[in-house]
Amino acid sequence: MHKVIYDTDPGVDDAMALLFLHRHPEIDLIGITTVFGNASVETTTRNALFLKRDWNIPAPVAKGASVTIDPSRAERPWPAMVHGDNGLGDIDVPETIDLPLDPRPAHRFIIDTVRAHPGEVRLVAVGRMTNLALALKEDPEIATLVKDVVIMGGNFYVPGNVSPVAEANIHGDPEAADIVMTAPWKVAVIGLDVTAVTTMSRSYLGEMAAKGDKAVKQLNELSQSYIDFYKHAVEDGMMVHDSCASVYVVAPELFSSISGAVRVVCGGIADGQTIVKSDGRRFPPGDWDGLPSQIVCTGIESKKVIDLIRDTLLTA
Ligand code: BDR
Ligand code: CA
Repeated sequence: MHKVIYDTDPGVDDAMALLFLHRHPEIDLIGITTVFGNASVETTTRNALFLKRDWNIPAPVAKGASVTIDPSRAERPWPAMVHGDNGLGDIDVPETIDLPLDPRPAHRFIIDTVRAHPGEVRLVAVGRMTNLALALKEDPEIATLVKDVVIMGGNFYVPGNVSPVAEANIHGDPEAADIVMTAPWKVAVIGLDVTAVTTMSRSYLGEMAAKGDKAVKQLNELSQSYIDFYKHAVEDGMMVHDSCASVYVVAPELFSSISGAVRVVCGGIADGQTIVKSDGRRFPPGDWDGLPSQIVCTGIESKKVIDLIRDTLLTA
Protein backbone atom coordinates (compact mmCIF):
# COMPACT_ATOMS: atom_id res chain seq x y z
CA MET A 1 0.00 0.00 0.00
CA HIS A 2 1.21 3.50 -0.84
CA LYS A 3 0.71 5.86 2.08
CA VAL A 4 -0.22 9.21 0.52
CA ILE A 5 -0.66 12.74 1.83
CA TYR A 6 -2.52 14.74 -0.79
CA ASP A 7 -1.67 18.46 -0.84
CA THR A 8 -4.32 20.17 -2.93
CA ASP A 9 -6.34 23.29 -3.85
CA PRO A 10 -9.72 21.86 -4.90
CA GLY A 11 -10.21 22.73 -7.69
CA VAL A 12 -12.08 20.70 -10.32
CA ASP A 13 -9.18 18.53 -11.51
CA ASP A 14 -8.05 18.25 -7.87
CA ALA A 15 -11.44 16.70 -7.07
CA MET A 16 -11.03 13.96 -9.67
CA ALA A 17 -7.52 13.19 -8.39
CA LEU A 18 -8.87 13.03 -4.84
CA LEU A 19 -11.47 10.45 -5.80
CA PHE A 20 -8.78 8.44 -7.60
CA LEU A 21 -6.54 8.43 -4.49
CA HIS A 22 -9.48 7.52 -2.28
CA ARG A 23 -10.65 4.66 -4.48
CA HIS A 24 -7.43 3.09 -5.72
CA PRO A 25 -7.00 -0.24 -3.88
CA GLU A 26 -3.22 0.15 -3.50
CA ILE A 27 -3.40 3.65 -2.01
CA ASP A 28 -3.90 4.46 1.64
CA LEU A 29 -4.85 8.15 1.71
CA ILE A 30 -3.69 9.19 5.17
CA GLY A 31 -4.15 12.95 4.95
CA ILE A 32 -5.43 15.84 2.88
CA THR A 33 -3.72 19.21 3.21
CA THR A 34 -5.06 22.34 1.57
CA VAL A 35 -3.44 25.38 0.06
CA PHE A 36 -4.54 28.56 -1.71
CA GLY A 37 -4.47 28.51 -5.51
CA ASN A 38 -7.59 27.73 -7.48
CA ALA A 39 -9.42 29.76 -4.81
CA SER A 40 -8.61 31.15 -1.35
CA VAL A 41 -7.49 28.60 1.24
CA GLU A 42 -10.78 29.14 3.08
CA THR A 43 -12.61 28.03 -0.05
CA THR A 44 -10.29 25.14 -0.99
CA THR A 45 -10.46 23.85 2.60
CA ARG A 46 -14.25 24.07 2.67
CA ASN A 47 -14.23 22.20 -0.67
CA ALA A 48 -11.95 19.48 0.69
CA LEU A 49 -14.29 19.01 3.66
CA PHE A 50 -17.29 18.98 1.32
CA LEU A 51 -15.78 16.23 -0.86
CA LYS A 52 -14.63 14.30 2.23
CA ARG A 53 -18.18 14.38 3.58
CA ASP A 54 -19.98 13.57 0.34
CA TRP A 55 -17.52 10.88 -0.73
CA ASN A 56 -17.03 9.33 2.73
CA ILE A 57 -13.29 9.86 2.76
CA PRO A 58 -11.83 8.99 6.18
CA ALA A 59 -8.57 10.95 5.80
CA PRO A 60 -8.25 14.05 8.02
CA VAL A 61 -8.08 17.50 6.42
CA ALA A 62 -5.51 20.06 7.59
CA LYS A 63 -5.69 23.66 6.43
CA GLY A 64 -2.56 25.14 4.91
CA ALA A 65 -1.04 28.31 3.54
CA SER A 66 -3.11 31.28 2.48
CA VAL A 67 -0.30 33.23 0.82
CA THR A 68 3.07 32.69 -0.87
CA ILE A 69 6.11 31.76 1.21
CA ASP A 70 7.54 35.21 0.49
CA PRO A 71 4.71 37.33 1.91
CA SER A 72 5.94 40.40 0.03
CA ARG A 73 4.81 38.86 -3.27
CA ALA A 74 1.73 40.60 -4.64
CA GLU A 75 -1.48 38.56 -4.39
CA ARG A 76 -3.08 37.56 -7.66
CA PRO A 77 -6.78 37.13 -8.44
CA TRP A 78 -8.26 33.61 -8.16
CA PRO A 79 -8.77 31.80 -11.49
CA ALA A 80 -12.58 31.82 -11.26
CA MET A 81 -12.89 31.49 -15.04
CA VAL A 82 -11.27 28.02 -14.76
CA HIS A 83 -12.67 26.53 -11.53
CA GLY A 84 -15.67 28.80 -10.87
CA ASP A 85 -16.13 31.32 -8.04
CA ASN A 86 -16.46 28.49 -5.53
CA GLY A 87 -13.54 26.42 -6.89
CA LEU A 88 -15.82 23.51 -7.79
CA GLY A 89 -17.39 24.63 -11.03
CA ASP A 90 -20.07 26.62 -9.19
CA ILE A 91 -22.18 23.61 -8.25
CA ASP A 92 -24.12 24.05 -5.01
CA VAL A 93 -21.71 23.78 -2.08
CA PRO A 94 -22.81 24.77 1.44
CA GLU A 95 -20.99 27.76 2.84
CA THR A 96 -19.65 25.71 5.75
CA ILE A 97 -19.28 21.99 6.30
CA ASP A 98 -19.90 20.63 9.76
CA LEU A 99 -16.80 18.46 10.02
CA PRO A 100 -13.75 19.10 12.18
CA LEU A 101 -10.43 20.13 10.72
CA ASP A 102 -7.19 18.67 11.97
CA PRO A 103 -6.02 21.23 14.57
CA ARG A 104 -2.54 21.52 13.05
CA PRO A 105 -1.53 23.73 10.12
CA ALA A 106 -0.90 21.66 6.99
CA HIS A 107 2.89 21.88 7.10
CA ARG A 108 2.93 20.64 10.72
CA PHE A 109 0.53 17.83 9.83
CA ILE A 110 2.95 16.84 7.05
CA ILE A 111 5.96 16.86 9.40
CA ASP A 112 4.23 14.84 12.13
CA THR A 113 2.80 12.29 9.70
CA VAL A 114 6.09 11.81 7.87
CA ARG A 115 7.88 11.36 11.21
CA ALA A 116 5.27 8.83 12.33
CA HIS A 117 5.92 6.70 9.21
CA PRO A 118 9.61 7.18 8.33
CA GLY A 119 10.47 6.16 4.78
CA GLU A 120 6.88 5.41 3.86
CA VAL A 121 4.97 8.57 3.03
CA ARG A 122 4.49 9.76 -0.53
CA LEU A 123 3.58 13.43 -0.82
CA VAL A 124 1.36 14.15 -3.82
CA ALA A 125 1.25 17.93 -4.27
CA VAL A 126 -1.01 19.43 -6.92
CA GLY A 127 -1.31 23.07 -5.87
CA ARG A 128 1.15 25.79 -4.91
CA MET A 129 4.16 24.14 -3.21
CA THR A 130 3.90 26.44 -0.19
CA ASN A 131 2.98 23.83 2.45
CA LEU A 132 5.82 21.54 1.38
CA ALA A 133 8.31 24.40 1.47
CA LEU A 134 7.10 25.47 4.93
CA ALA A 135 7.47 21.89 6.16
CA LEU A 136 11.04 21.75 4.84
CA LYS A 137 11.88 25.09 6.44
CA GLU A 138 10.55 24.03 9.82
CA ASP A 139 12.02 20.52 9.76
CA PRO A 140 14.59 20.02 6.97
CA GLU A 141 15.18 16.42 8.07
CA ILE A 142 11.83 15.33 6.66
CA ALA A 143 13.49 15.40 3.24
CA THR A 144 15.28 12.21 4.23
CA LEU A 145 12.18 10.68 5.83
CA VAL A 146 9.59 10.84 3.04
CA LYS A 147 9.50 8.10 0.43
CA ASP A 148 9.11 10.56 -2.41
CA VAL A 149 7.27 13.63 -3.65
CA VAL A 150 5.09 13.63 -6.75
CA ILE A 151 4.07 17.06 -7.96
CA MET A 152 1.80 18.38 -10.64
CA GLY A 153 3.49 21.53 -11.83
CA GLY A 154 5.82 23.14 -14.29
CA ASN A 155 6.52 22.84 -17.99
CA PHE A 156 9.84 22.03 -19.61
CA TYR A 157 9.62 21.59 -23.37
CA VAL A 158 6.12 23.02 -23.89
CA PRO A 159 4.63 26.48 -23.20
CA GLY A 160 3.11 27.45 -19.88
CA ASN A 161 -0.56 28.01 -19.14
CA VAL A 162 -0.46 31.27 -17.18
CA SER A 163 2.40 32.89 -19.08
CA PRO A 164 4.31 31.78 -22.17
CA VAL A 165 6.84 30.12 -19.86
CA ALA A 166 5.05 29.28 -16.60
CA GLU A 167 2.48 26.84 -15.24
CA ALA A 168 -0.08 27.91 -12.62
CA ASN A 169 1.04 25.85 -9.59
CA ILE A 170 4.66 26.98 -9.93
CA HIS A 171 3.89 30.55 -11.00
CA GLY A 172 1.62 30.87 -7.95
CA ASP A 173 4.58 30.48 -5.58
CA PRO A 174 7.93 30.24 -7.42
CA GLU A 175 10.12 30.57 -4.32
CA ALA A 176 8.32 27.66 -2.65
CA ALA A 177 8.63 25.54 -5.79
CA ASP A 178 12.36 26.21 -6.01
CA ILE A 179 12.78 25.06 -2.39
CA VAL A 180 10.85 21.86 -3.14
CA MET A 181 12.73 21.05 -6.37
CA THR A 182 16.16 21.58 -4.84
CA ALA A 183 15.66 19.80 -1.50
CA PRO A 184 17.47 16.49 -0.96
CA TRP A 185 14.42 14.31 -1.56
CA LYS A 186 13.20 12.46 -4.59
CA VAL A 187 10.75 14.53 -6.65
CA ALA A 188 8.85 13.33 -9.71
CA VAL A 189 7.61 16.32 -11.68
CA ILE A 190 4.42 15.80 -13.65
CA GLY A 191 4.09 18.99 -15.66
CA LEU A 192 2.24 20.31 -18.67
CA ASP A 193 4.53 18.31 -20.98
CA VAL A 194 2.40 15.30 -20.03
CA THR A 195 -0.78 16.70 -18.49
CA ALA A 196 -1.71 19.00 -21.38
CA VAL A 197 -1.93 16.00 -23.71
CA THR A 198 -3.96 13.92 -21.27
CA THR A 199 -7.54 14.94 -21.84
CA MET A 200 -10.88 13.39 -20.99
CA SER A 201 -13.83 14.19 -23.23
CA ARG A 202 -17.22 15.32 -21.96
CA SER A 203 -18.83 12.21 -23.40
CA TYR A 204 -16.28 9.83 -21.80
CA LEU A 205 -16.90 11.46 -18.42
CA GLY A 206 -20.64 11.36 -19.08
CA GLU A 207 -20.47 7.61 -19.71
CA MET A 208 -18.54 7.18 -16.48
CA ALA A 209 -21.23 9.13 -14.64
CA ALA A 210 -23.95 6.97 -16.15
CA LYS A 211 -22.26 3.81 -14.86
CA GLY A 212 -20.87 5.24 -11.64
CA ASP A 213 -22.23 6.03 -8.19
CA LYS A 214 -23.23 9.36 -6.66
CA ALA A 215 -19.61 10.54 -6.35
CA VAL A 216 -18.85 10.03 -10.04
CA LYS A 217 -22.10 11.75 -11.00
CA GLN A 218 -21.16 14.69 -8.79
CA LEU A 219 -17.70 14.80 -10.34
CA ASN A 220 -19.31 14.96 -13.77
CA GLU A 221 -21.56 17.81 -12.65
CA LEU A 222 -18.78 19.89 -11.12
CA SER A 223 -16.55 19.39 -14.19
CA GLN A 224 -18.96 20.85 -16.76
CA SER A 225 -17.91 24.51 -16.61
CA TYR A 226 -14.22 23.46 -16.46
CA ILE A 227 -14.78 21.58 -19.72
CA ASP A 228 -16.41 24.73 -21.16
CA PHE A 229 -13.33 26.72 -20.14
CA TYR A 230 -11.04 24.32 -22.03
CA LYS A 231 -12.76 24.86 -25.36
CA HIS A 232 -9.81 26.98 -26.56
CA ALA A 233 -7.48 23.99 -26.23
CA VAL A 234 -9.44 20.73 -26.06
CA GLU A 235 -12.26 19.50 -28.25
CA ASP A 236 -15.15 19.19 -25.80
CA GLY A 237 -13.01 17.85 -22.99
CA MET A 238 -10.62 18.80 -20.22
CA MET A 239 -7.02 18.35 -19.15
CA VAL A 240 -6.88 16.12 -16.08
CA HIS A 241 -3.68 17.64 -14.70
CA ASP A 242 -3.84 16.56 -11.08
CA SER A 243 -5.07 13.04 -11.81
CA CYS A 244 -1.89 12.44 -13.82
CA ALA A 245 0.12 12.94 -10.62
CA SER A 246 -2.18 10.55 -8.74
CA VAL A 247 -1.79 7.94 -11.47
CA TYR A 248 2.00 8.25 -11.31
CA VAL A 249 1.86 6.99 -7.71
CA VAL A 250 0.65 3.56 -8.83
CA ALA A 251 1.63 3.39 -12.49
CA PRO A 252 4.93 5.20 -13.16
CA GLU A 253 5.51 2.83 -16.09
CA LEU A 254 2.91 4.85 -18.04
CA PHE A 255 5.33 7.82 -18.04
CA SER A 256 8.71 8.40 -19.66
CA SER A 257 11.14 10.82 -18.09
CA ILE A 258 14.52 12.42 -18.01
CA SER A 259 16.50 13.17 -14.87
CA GLY A 260 18.33 16.27 -13.76
CA ALA A 261 18.52 19.20 -11.40
CA VAL A 262 15.49 21.50 -11.58
CA ARG A 263 15.39 25.20 -10.79
CA VAL A 264 12.55 27.70 -10.80
CA VAL A 265 12.96 31.24 -12.06
CA CYS A 266 11.91 33.67 -9.32
CA GLY A 267 11.05 37.13 -10.68
CA GLY A 268 11.19 38.96 -13.97
CA ILE A 269 9.31 38.13 -17.14
CA ALA A 270 10.07 34.41 -16.78
CA ASP A 271 8.71 34.29 -13.22
CA GLY A 272 7.77 30.69 -12.39
CA GLN A 273 9.55 29.04 -15.31
CA THR A 274 10.88 25.55 -14.52
CA ILE A 275 14.23 24.60 -16.06
CA VAL A 276 15.92 21.22 -15.93
CA LYS A 277 19.61 20.58 -16.52
CA SER A 278 19.57 17.03 -17.84
CA ASP A 279 22.06 14.71 -16.20
CA GLY A 280 25.05 14.26 -18.44
CA ARG A 281 24.81 17.67 -20.15
CA ARG A 282 27.92 19.70 -19.43
CA PHE A 283 27.92 23.46 -18.87
CA PRO A 284 30.27 25.91 -17.21
CA PRO A 285 29.69 26.20 -13.43
CA GLY A 286 26.16 27.44 -12.70
CA ASP A 287 23.01 27.47 -10.60
CA TRP A 288 22.12 23.80 -11.22
CA ASP A 289 25.38 22.41 -9.83
CA GLY A 290 25.42 20.06 -6.86
CA LEU A 291 21.65 19.75 -6.64
CA PRO A 292 19.67 16.52 -6.43
CA SER A 293 18.68 14.88 -9.65
CA GLN A 294 14.88 14.82 -9.98
CA ILE A 295 12.58 12.94 -12.34
CA VAL A 296 11.00 15.13 -15.02
CA CYS A 297 8.23 13.44 -16.96
CA THR A 298 8.30 14.16 -20.66
CA GLY A 299 6.08 11.42 -22.10
CA ILE A 300 2.85 9.71 -21.12
CA GLU A 301 0.58 6.94 -22.36
CA SER A 302 -2.47 9.18 -22.16
CA LYS A 303 -5.12 6.66 -23.17
CA LYS A 304 -3.97 4.15 -20.57
CA VAL A 305 -3.89 6.88 -17.93
CA ILE A 306 -7.44 8.01 -18.79
CA ASP A 307 -8.70 4.41 -18.74
CA LEU A 308 -7.02 3.74 -15.39
CA ILE A 309 -8.74 6.82 -13.95
CA ARG A 310 -12.09 5.55 -15.24
CA ASP A 311 -11.59 2.00 -13.97
CA THR A 312 -10.48 3.23 -10.55
CA LEU A 313 -13.34 5.70 -10.16
CA LEU A 314 -15.82 3.00 -11.12
CA THR A 315 -14.53 0.52 -8.52
CA ALA A 316 -16.90 1.66 -5.81
C1 BDR B 1 -2.80 23.18 -12.25
O1 BDR B 1 -3.32 24.44 -11.88
C2 BDR B 1 -4.60 24.30 -11.29
O2 BDR B 1 -5.51 25.12 -11.92
C3 BDR B 1 -5.00 22.87 -11.49
O3 BDR B 1 -5.76 22.39 -10.40
C4 BDR B 1 -3.72 22.12 -11.66
O4 BDR B 1 -3.21 21.71 -10.41
C5 BDR B 1 -2.68 23.12 -13.76
O5 BDR B 1 -1.81 24.10 -14.23
CA1 CA C 1 -4.61 21.72 -8.38
